[in-house]
Amino acid sequence: MRIIMGWTVRCEDSMEKKIKKIGVLASGGDAPGMNAAIRGVTLAAARAGISTVGILEGYEGLLHSRFLPLSVEDVSGVIDRGGTFLRTARSPEFATPEGVRKAAENAEKAELDAVVVIGGDGSFRGALDLSAAGVPVIGIPGTIDNDIGCTEYTIGFDTAMNTAMEAVDRIRDTAYSHERCSIVEVMGRRAGYIAYYTAIACGADIMLLPEDTLDFDRDVIAPLRAARDAGKREFLIVAAEGADGLDVLPEKIERDFGVKPTYSVLGYIQRGGSPTLRDRTMASLMGERAIACLLRGDEDRIIAVRNGEICALPIQEALAMKKELSASAIRAGKNLSCQ
Ligand code: F6P
Repeated sequence: MRIIMGWTVRCEDSMEKKIKKIGVLASGGDAPGMNAAIRGVTLAAARAGISTVGILEGYEGLLHSRFLPLSVEDVSGVIDRGGTFLRTARSPEFATPEGVRKAAENAEKAELDAVVVIGGDGSFRGALDLSAAGVPVIGIPGTIDNDIGCTEYTIGFDTAMNTAMEAVDRIRDTAYSHERCSIVEVMGRRAGYIAYYTAIACGADIMLLPEDTLDFDRDVIAPLRAARDAGKREFLIVAAEGADGLDVLPEKIERDFGVKPTYSVLGYIQRGGSPTLRDRTMASLMGERAIACLLRGDEDRIIAVRNGEICALPIQEALAMKKELSASAIRAGKNLSCQ
């Protein structure tokens, strides 16, 4: 691959090809800030003379050629909107070799020189398949769970945490007034980032994370008793949905601590809503970076944040990277609770 006059040229092609048109899609669970990323991609592309086509409902839209041309005007007024106006979907058909082939054929028919995929790890694995089928791709990390190995930051995480924090604060007010024990379940099936930061920010007495194995007496009952002995009369437990033993937690607390807890599930409220400043700006800059990559000839990349800087990593390398809440980070968080 090389660059001629700032445009990407694929050396393996017999004819030189400049980037004229790209597709952009959102895939997997939506996240606040995805619209800002779509806007960032569209604006940066337009500035470089590249036209952008929105692909509706993720890979499903590529399979069924559901395209929406996007002009600069079309993305005006979307930066503050939650969700994704292109809509998103999970596509079982795209997960098959035939599906990938069909999607690649449709991308070629639509004359897409590259596809920008906004989503999580699963969406990036789909992007890798698409690139193997001949369609250059760029991935932008978008998920409220912040659970993508190659990047310190994913679009939507900041908004989701702030939404969770606000909701937990409200629950804590009423828990205080009634001297209750409140369990608040936040999202995070496999990763506890939302629970971890929300628990710290809300001064929770106990945090329960998927990264931890639960010893009920040690991790729940003993700290609750210690807090009560120290004079506390209301108790707050923040749990990630993927934490151990949540189904039996309320009844066990009632049995062994003598208090019937309230149980609130924040659920999808955390996935919607207007994105925060951080999500809007990071999504916009990541969208811009996706186009800068293509202009430089850097195809098949994932845009990531590493050491606080936006960068672009080769997709295979990015997908092999792992991250998780470290034991020391978890310990530090618990040192601020009663655990
Ligand atoms: O977006 C991430 C996430 O919210 C996870 O925390 C959760 O487990 C999952 O998506 C649920 O998404 P859905 O119900 O759309 O499958």
